[in-house]
Amino acid sequence: TSQDQSKLKQAVAQAAVEEIRSDLARDTILGVGSGSTVNCFIEALAALRGDFAGAVASSTETERRLKAIGIEVFDLNQAGTLSVYVDGADEIDGDFAMIKGGGAALTREKIVAACARRFVCIADGSKHVRQLGGFPLPIEVIPMARSHVAREMVKLGFSPVYRQGVVTDNGNQIIDLYDQLIDDARDLETRINQIAGVVSNGLFAHRGADLLLLGTAEGVQRLTP
Ligand code: A5P
Repeated sequence: TSQDQSKLKQAVAQAAVEEIRSDLARDTILGVGSGSTVNCFIEALAALRGDFAGAVASSTETERRLKAIGIEVFDLNQAGTLSVYVDGADEIDGDFAMIKGGGAALTREKIVAACARRFVCIADGSKHVRQLGGFPLPIEVIPMARSHVAREMVKLGFSPVYRQGVVTDNGNQIIDLYDQLIDDARDLETRINQIAGVVSNGLFAHRGADLLLLGTAEGVQRLTP
């Protein structure tokens, strides 16, 4: 049930706080992702406020929530390299490649993740899959390129669907690719990025997670690829 799922999210959020606690210094700036699991993490992080300098946010929603509990939010350009980035995923496979962007925050998430030495993924057990692609793969596109990108994806055998009514934090639009299991996530991540008008896509394969805290009925599993 969704109540069980939210218990698992709280458990992995707490585990993430324990995981990073020893890394925190007065000048540490954390990277913080987006989504309902991260929202639990932000709540749990309140207990450590004052032990670190602040955070870089991967969405305006995360920024709002961090500020609401009194955590300072830094511009990424001022923050430099981050020691750790904590974020959820829509799907994560055995190599720790992920599909992200169900909440449309993929591009900023990818940028902040790229600036972090360590990516800690927090997820409930339902996100762990053998093969990526059951969850629709998002692509952020410059609005004028939407139809072009969709046609190119059809040529590659995908079924693109425009996510109606959604505008990203960067003022762009989202196309989702449905019903296609992904054989080579790294290759597909690169190929989609080659299409003119694509800002980024939700495959995090070249830069996957380094640690997975997976919430299961038996407790939180701490997994490495
Ligand atoms: C946001 O765009 C996504 O990449 C999130 O990381 C992903 O959707 C996970 O969200 P939940 O924690 O709500 O499942």
